[in-house]
Amino acid sequence: MDFNFYNPTRIAFGRNAIEQLDSLVPKDARVLVLLGGASAEKNGTLKKVRAALGSRDVQEFRGIEANPTFETLMEAVTQVRDSRRDFLLAVGGGSVIDGTKFVAAAVNYKGDPWQILETHGAQITTALPFGSVLTLPATGSEMNSGAVITRKETQSKLDFRSELTFPRFSVLDPTTTLSLPPRQVANGIADAFTHVVEQYLTYPAAGAAQDRFSEGLLQELIEIGAKKDLELDDYDVRANLMWIATLALNGLIGVGVPQDWSTHMIGHELTALYGIDHARTLAVLLPANLQVRREAKKEKLLQYADRVWGITMGNESERIDKVIQRTRAFFLNLEIPTRLVDYGLGEEAIEAVIEKLSAHGMTQLGEHQDVTLDVSRQILKAAL
Ligand code: NZQ
Ligand code: ZN
Repeated sequence: MDFNFYNPTRIAFGRNAIEQLDSLVPKDARVLVLLGGASAEKNGTLKKVRAALGSRDVQEFRGIEANPTFETLMEAVTQVRDSRRDFLLAVGGGSVIDGTKFVAAAVNYKGDPWQILETHGAQITTALPFGSVLTLPATGSEMNSGAVITRKETQSKLDFRSELTFPRFSVLDPTTTLSLPPRQVANGIADAFTHVVEQYLTYPAAGAAQDRFSEGLLQELIEIGAKKDLELDDYDVRANLMWIATLALNGLIGVGVPQDWSTHMIGHELTALYGIDHARTLAVLLPANLQVRREAKKEKLLQYADRVWGITMGNESERIDKVIQRTRAFFLNLEIPTRLVDYGLGEEAIEAVIEKLSAHGMTQLGEHQDVTLDVSRQILKAAL
């Protein structure tokens, strides 16, 4: 399919990349550093960031939660306005970077900033410049223009994107990820894996480079996912994981091909309602989604089975059964449970999610826009 690809984010990658902040952030910037909890302080990243920013006028904003909330981010917006900050620097995982994108867009937004989410970014006309120092490979937020924000008050988790909310730069120092707890490493692998699948596993569209790139990224994620803790601590493994997770959602593999994203959209509702980690919602929903939509995705499922997992034996239906099983086993091997019941949820959760999908207009999802509320219900049932 025709496309117009734009990605203006500079990537500074490597062991001492944080030092480059001195040349990446304008000398006269009035900086606000945005942070999550204590992790960046504990692992020494914040110290390096402060040193690299030198004598610039710097303030900090702490407390952006995992699944960042509108309520907290509006406090940061107030700080930016009151202290006339003109450059934002996110230091953390996807939540801090997403939150920073929202703050950048909200500061000069005319009207109620929640509209940014309700209109999915369509009405953003200006945003403060910002960069990021990534500490958790997973979301790809460091090199894309999207963000997902939760409004606690209404349990709504909505996304927005805009050409104005690409980071100016992102610093990727793999050593910052060595302090990650195993659960977050596993989540990151599962999230990046699902990002590739959402853009790859649809229907054939003659995107030869996109397919081969996607298959390569999936194969590497499978290899990394099979490693044990000690091997995972290897610099090269961390560096590869970091770059793979960025490539999985920086737009490159998604150009010119149909995209799905229904697993993500249903997953956002599970996180908003029940607080399940983003990646875990995907591990629950993806195998169920592939099962329910196996007919429409048949050709790509067979290609995925063959090229990514080496499954060539058996008839078509058997190969598809097998590759869905392997996909589930991949998540389980990361110690991520793949059933709703594992998270204490049963039938009652299904209608609650469906109601939220309906309220958010998520009624025509997927590459054919045929994932109606009824199909979402079937997917959730298959995930019990
Ligand atoms: O808050 P701190 O103390 O920093 O701790 C965080 C947090 O508890 C911790 N952490 C981060 N780096 C660490 C570390 N702990 C030790 N060492 C480090 N180096 O990890 C926890 C989770 O962090 P979070 O940022 O929430 O994780 P992730 O990067 O997985 O981001 C998830 C958010 O991104 C959204 C998700 O919906 C979710 O809200 N997504 C954003 C996307 C995008 N912008 O393109 C796409 C994704 O599909 C996703 O929806
Ligand atoms: Zn994701």
